[in-house]
Amino acid sequence: MSGIVVVGSQWGDEGKGKVVDVFSAKADYVVRYQGGANAGHTLIVDGKKTVLHLVPSGILHSDTICIIGPGVVLDIETIFDEIKALKESGELKDSNQLLISELCTVIMPYHKQLDAAREQSAGHEKIGTTGKGIGPAYEDRASRRAILFGDLFYENTLRKKVEHSLKEKNLLFEKCYGLEPINIEQTLAEFKNLGQLLKPYRCKDTSLVISKALNAGKKVLFEGAQGSLLDLLHGTYPYVTSSSTIAGSACVGAAVGPGKIDKVIGITKAYTTRVGSGPFPTELKTEVGQKLRDIGQEYGATTGRERRCGWIDLVALKYAIRINGITNISLMKIDVLSGFDEIKICTKYKINGELHEDYPIAVDELNEAEPIYESMPGWSEDLTKLQSFDDVPEACKKYIQFLQDEIETPIDIVSVGPGREQTLWLKPLF
Ligand code: IMP
Repeated sequence: MSGIVVVGSQWGDEGKGKVVDVFSAKADYVVRYQGGANAGHTLIVDGKKTVLHLVPSGILHSDTICIIGPGVVLDIETIFDEIKALKESGELKDSNQLLISELCTVIMPYHKQLDAAREQSAGHEKIGTTGKGIGPAYEDRASRRAILFGDLFYENTLRKKVEHSLKEKNLLFEKCYGLEPINIEQTLAEFKNLGQLLKPYRCKDTSLVISKALNAGKKVLFEGAQGSLLDLLHGTYPYVTSSSTIAGSACVGAAVGPGKIDKVIGITKAYTTRVGSGPFPTELKTEVGQKLRDIGQEYGATTGRERRCGWIDLVALKYAIRINGITNISLMKIDVLSGFDEIKICTKYKINGELHEDYPIAVDELNEAEPIYESMPGWSEDLTKLQSFDDVPEACKKYIQFLQDEIETPIDIVSVGPGREQTLWLKPLF
């Protein structure tokens, strides 16, 4: 048993990509199990930046096999472009380094068009999606009309399914949204062609590959996308993504039994950010929020949108720890907090005059939640060049200790910058 799930404990963009890249030096397999090209995982190695949306973040280690499991919604064009770029840079040398499950749902042009049309017509009520067609694609999967990656290799099946889907979608586009219908023949030709280009990466049963690896004592990392509070069932619904983003989803999306998971590592930013609409109790619409955004470069890796910024929220974090079964925390971007005179930590909410230590879940209550803060002195030292946790300034150590005591979960890794080498280990996790 050596399955490790890496999961975002906030609203995404916590730095999962960096952690998975660092862990991958010791992992045999890295598996993406949910989400799609709405994710943007940024890796910086020797100063070179790689942004991945679909290819697992283990790909920069040539001995690690990367798997895209059935729970992922596959944007064929994005993955094709990522593979092309990785081949050109010499990172992807052999097609055996990347396996794509035949059971993945394919994102079709009509999913993106529907996503955009809905957002546009929703006006102020919009979710603020990434526009990548994620919701409509998962809807088709649930309503049993999805095109699977494996279907791209069976012309008749592909035609039948696209015709079936477009009959309804084109009616929606024309009658509801006043848009042009999507051309069936063009769609079929394009996807048949893209399918052929991706054929070398096609894998019939990724679950079998993972199961054999785990049984042989190999280390398998399950790489989550987005964050726990964007979970379709347990997040700030309806301001969520359309997949389950919590650790249990690794078992469903990759088809592995829960008993195979040893650890769940929660990736947590030392402050909080959110992109898109929805409640965010500790949001700072002030100069302090802007300072966090500027220093932390809080702009979306997928859409370039400004991220909303605020102090760390332990009420929400404790909820995330509970619903994921997080065993260890990796605390990210602590270097961004250097230079703040005062650092605040939300430990409770006040809702309609009452104090709450437990996360209230309902969006209406979260919208009312007033954060109650503990305050700690900041530090001014630059942390980005530190080599060891011993060298961390006392005020910063106290901040980390305070968080750890409150959440009752060990903080085993502290990240002081985007590079691999800017990672301080308090305890070895493998
Ligand atoms: P969708 O996943 O594109 O449907 O977007 C739904 C919500 O999830 C929006 O608020 C997005 O901004 C948010 N979201 C989706 N993917 C990510 C991510 O990788 N990081 C942060 N937010 C995300």
